[in-house]
Amino acid sequence: MTDEPKLIDPFQRAITYLRVSVTDRCDFRCVYCMSEHMTFLPKKDLLTLEELDRLCSAFISQGVKKIRVTGGEPLVRRGIIGFFQAMSRHLDSGALSELTLTTNGSQLHKYAAELAAAGVKRVNISLDTLDEKKFAEITRWGRLAQVLKGIDAAQTAGLKVKINMVALKNFNDSELFDVVQWCAERGMDLTLIEVMPMGEDIGNEDRLGQYWSLDDVRTALAARYHLSPLPDSTGGPARYMRVMETGQRIGFITPLSHNFCESCNRVRLTCTGQLFQCLGQEGEFDLRKVLRDNPTEEAPVITALHEAITHKPKGHDFDYSRQSVSGKMTRHMSHTGG
Ligand code: 5AD
Ligand code: SF4
Repeated sequence: MTDEPKLIDPFQRAITYLRVSVTDRCDFRCVYCMSEHMTFLPKKDLLTLEELDRLCSAFISQGVKKIRVTGGEPLVRRGIIGFFQAMSRHLDSGALSELTLTTNGSQLHKYAAELAAAGVKRVNISLDTLDEKKFAEITRWGRLAQVLKGIDAAQTAGLKVKINMVALKNFNDSELFDVVQWCAERGMDLTLIEVMPMGEDIGNEDRLGQYWSLDDVRTALAARYHLSPLPDSTGGPARYMRVMETGQRIGFITPLSHNFCESCNRVRLTCTGQLFQCLGQEGEFDLRKVLRDNPTEEAPVITALHEAITHKPKGHDFDYSRQSVSGKMTRHMSHTGG
């Protein structure tokens, strides 16, 4: 067997990273992500856990080395720990080098130990504020204490935790240094994310006003700390700086102020088996149909993966500079999985 990547897109980018949304549901209703009253997908539309396993395994056989499980909130999907346990066979065989997840942390107090036992080494936990009231406001349904308990459980289980914080002007800008300090004290990396124009139909017309450029965030950080740029190491879209005073890494995900598409190595699979070649484009490929049309045969599935990759576009069209938010997407992050 060769280690050469097998899924190469039309721009010669090797696809080695798969993000998998396992549910569109969530126990929170973050204002930039969901409306208060969401209509979720009927269960029959979802890939079963067995179908998810089949597809992920097919991707792994074609050179995918890293899988990130997302949602919605992945840990509210019933039986999801069984999926992690099943996927760990690919870690054991060495075919997969990393199995990880992005979570809101609400269920981690229950599942952290099992995730660690299944071979998960790192988790990304979304947390935009350390203020209980603000937390309730931004997540609508979430409670900060429960997430903090989940973070404790993750660290106790030996999982490396990275905090994802969406940078929102007039919301968490005043907390930037507190969060940096809190993460440093707990040995956690921090990634800041520019708010993206997703699901603009959900009553968040204010999103433009909340847009806080990470260039400005970085300027604010540089006024307090010595920041040293780090070479990209995760293969993800974040750029990293080391805070010399604390030793921690801070990542910046800047889909709007800097385009990072040139080095994109990833595709996204939705919980209904649609493959999105790019977060910012409408192009998609129906892998569920291929799976269900071929319940026992893997060859057509592998062929479909290659076919899908040939449609990966060069990059996205998000642009806040024209005030109408051109290139905005109508689908929600909870559907494509962040
Ligand atoms: N803009 C930026 N980040 C978002 N997330 C969800 N919706 C948006 C958006 N509109 C973030 C979550 C989580 C990650 C998976 O995506 O906060 O950290
Ligand atoms: Fe749920 Fe994450 Fe969306 Fe918040 S951002 S509603 S936690 S999926």
